Amino acid sequence: PKITYLEDNGKSHTIEVSNGLSVMEGAVQNDIPGIDADCGGGMACATCHVYVKEEWFDKLPKKEDGEEDMLDMAFEPKQNSRLSCQILVSDELDGLTVSIPSKQG
Ligand code: FES
Repeated sequence: PKITYLEDNGKSHTIEVSNGLSVMEGAVQNDIPGIDADCGGGMACATCHVYVKEEWFDKLPKKEDGEEDMLDMAFEPKQNSRLSCQILVSDELDGLTVSIPSKQG
């Protein structure tokens, strides 16, 4: 599946990410700036925070409580904020687009 990462400066990266990897892992493996993932996917850092395009947001599995708590600490959380380490790539997510908050870029 292809995932598109949009940087705050308008740069866009569309990358083929393997099924089962997280959206965060796809970004880290391809050196996408702004997704540092300091905790390595443990839902403990919020440096993998992204905004999910509205049309995709409802298709993602719901947030767990821990994710919501972490997002409260992220830079400028919005309605469509998610931790990218909690989004697992699958065929259904082909074409998913996420935006990286400015403070992480
Ligand atoms: Fe740390 Fe996602 S990588 S919360």
